[in-house]
Amino acid sequence: MTQMYNKKVMEHFSNPRNVGEIENASGTGQVGSAACGDIMKIDIKVEDNIIVDVKFKTFGCGAAVASSSIATEMIIGKSVEEALKFTNKDLLKEIGGLPNEKIHCSILAEEALQEAINNYKSKIK
Ligand code: FES
Repeated sequence: MTQMYNKKVMEHFSNPRNVGEIENASGTGQVGSAACGDIMKIDIKVEDNIIVDVKFKTFGCGAAVASSSIATEMIIGKSVEEALKFTNKDLLKEIGGLPNEKIHCSILAEEALQEAINNYKSKIK
């Protein structure tokens, strides 16, 4: 690896938060990256329109692990509408940036989350 990750990314990569799956999740999203073939799955638990829990599984690189770990921390406690507005730009700001060739890893976190929310919405219709 030629590029260095910053301290926050390394910390979340070594000690990722909210790894796993939610039993009877309110919504699940799974996406794959066209750029690298890595896969990310996010489960959300919604109560009274608030995302009370988020868990993720990433079959991907360190930046994807760190991105999803930080994303879960940012999303828990948000309303469904707020969470829908969450983008990888918010994530990159929080994370303190990623090397250019690793930006798509943060997009994976955004896409998996959006898909989990859409899955939740399709279920409550
Ligand atoms: Fe594919 Fe990071 S290299 S998710």
